[in-house]
Amino acid sequence: MGHVPVLLQESVDLLVSGRRVAGGAGVLVDATFGGGGHSRALLESSGDRVLVVAIDRDPDAGARAQPLFQRFAPRFKLLRGNFADLSRLLDAAGIDKIDGLLLDIGLSSFQLEDGERGFSFQTDGPLDMRMDPSCGEPAAAVVNRADDKTLSRIFRDFGEEPYAVAIAKKIVEKRSGKPFLTTRSLALLVEEMVPPYKRSHRHPATRIFQALRIYVNDELGALREVLETGLARLDHGARLVVISYHSLEDRLVKQVFRQAGKGCICPPRVPVCTCGRQPQVRILHPGGIRPQAGEIALNPRSRSACLRVVECL
Ligand SMILES: C[S@@+](CC[C@H](N)C(=O)[O-])C[C@H]1O[C@@H](n2cnc3c(N)ncnc32)[C@H](O)[C@@H]1O
Repeated sequence: MGHVPVLLQESVDLLVSGRRVAGGAGVLVDATFGGGGHSRALLESSGDRVLVVAIDRDPDAGARAQPLFQRFAPRFKLLRGNFADLSRLLDAAGIDKIDGLLLDIGLSSFQLEDGERGFSFQTDGPLDMRMDPSCGEPAAAVVNRADDKTLSRIFRDFGEEPYAVAIAKKIVEKRSGKPFLTTRSLALLVEEMVPPYKRSHRHPATRIFQALRIYVNDELGALREVLETGLARLDHGARLVVISYHSLEDRLVKQVFRQAGKGCICPPRVPVCTCGRQPQVRILHPGGIRPQAGEIALNPRSRSACLRVVECL
């Protein structure tokens, strides 16, 4: 069925009403192209002098972008790479300041549903989980090599898994007989470790798969990097929109935004400001924007989404 874009109208409205784009010109960056749903809507909703630059680290993005090249060239560009390298990617494309940046983080349904990519415990496939299979090591290498302390830290820190220690120990015990090479083999072990009465509506392997995916792709490191470089690249009046899907990401986004929105940091006992610090951004919608019930009913994957947005001062 493909990927249904989440909070589409809300994010596009926020980006196209940034100062320069509303005037009909500028550069918008969609740093998580995926299936191109947001890029397409940005192109359709902005003027002829607005360039939309999409980025994705997944090698399949190029094929998915073809219809947009056909319809919108020369207003549309796709850059292949990790958004953590935003500065280098923009420099190489000859772009300096930008007028909007969108991050719709996580996985696309294309990636999740393709068993060969190893993201899903529902379909069997190689235990890989790399968004860019030419970079880094597959999840199987981590699962079959790391010691139990490292594994339990990954499961706890990136998956908030209550059985992190027990699952990590069991993996280390079992893998000496037969390494974990497939998604199904790992999912079955997790199923055995989580007692049925402790299970929620989610599959017991959800947290473990999330944790490994975040670790293998250094998702939180890349997010921190792109938030910081992205803020530095935004022109006055430009907006940065982030859609995240779990609390670890959302916490990081909130932290970076709050820091960038801070003015004077002099201690309260200092009568006149001496730090001279000015806020870099204004936080719009401080409580975040969540999908309406209608969107969740049509696209249950949107259930956990939270959109945060800042405007550059
Ligand atoms: C949720 S999907 C985006 C869906 C897209 N907004 C749409 O409507 O089709 C997230 C995409 O971001 C990409 N991605 C995640 N982390 C990335 C990173 N660090 N650098 C570049 N792309 C990344 C993934 O490969 C995936 O295609």
